[in-house]
Amino acid sequence: MANERSLVLVKPDAMQRGLAGAVLQRLENRGLLLIGLKLMRVDQDLASRHYAEHEGKPFFAALVDYITSSPIIAAVFEGDSATSAIRNSVGVTNPSQAAAGTIRGDFGLEVGRNLVHASDSPESGERELALFFTQEELVQWSRDNERWISENP
Ligand code: RTP
Ligand code: MG
Repeated sequence: MANERSLVLVKPDAMQRGLAGAVLQRLENRGLLLIGLKLMRVDQDLASRHYAEHEGKPFFAALVDYITSSPIIAAVFEGDSATSAIRNSVGVTNPSQAAAGTIRGDFGLEVGRNLVHASDSPESGERELALFFTQEELVQWSRDNERWISENP
């Protein structure tokens, strides 16, 4: 799908380890367009709403503890097939299984410390970004080098 929008979270472990720049740089380097960016804390309410699909699972409490344990960076990236492009750059959920060259595969070892969140579908992206950003906080802009990133900008 063209012009998808995806929510990316630099999770507390990546923040504590000073990897926020490295995480965001990989996505920026791919040509994804950054349209929202925020340093913030996630409270229990926001964590529960963001991870509502996991409520009741054995790892839910640990997941909420994890995502609320330190400030995070929330980002919105836009682009053609952005959802799958970002998920591929992030790597599979468990970093111990993630391919080298992915963020999780290069920086992580455990599923409970997997550095980054990325929306799993365009619909999830829209739902999740609305939890973290108001419409006014998203910036519509285009780059002067767009034609060198996309054949049909
Ligand atoms: P995310 O939502 O954070 O981008 O990760 P994901 O799609 O790759 O994985 P998902 O199934 O949505 O799980 C959400 C987060 O829950 C934690 N988790 N722990 N201990 C476990 O078995 C387990 N499974 C999942 C991870 O932090 C995962 O990113
Ligand atoms: Mg997920």
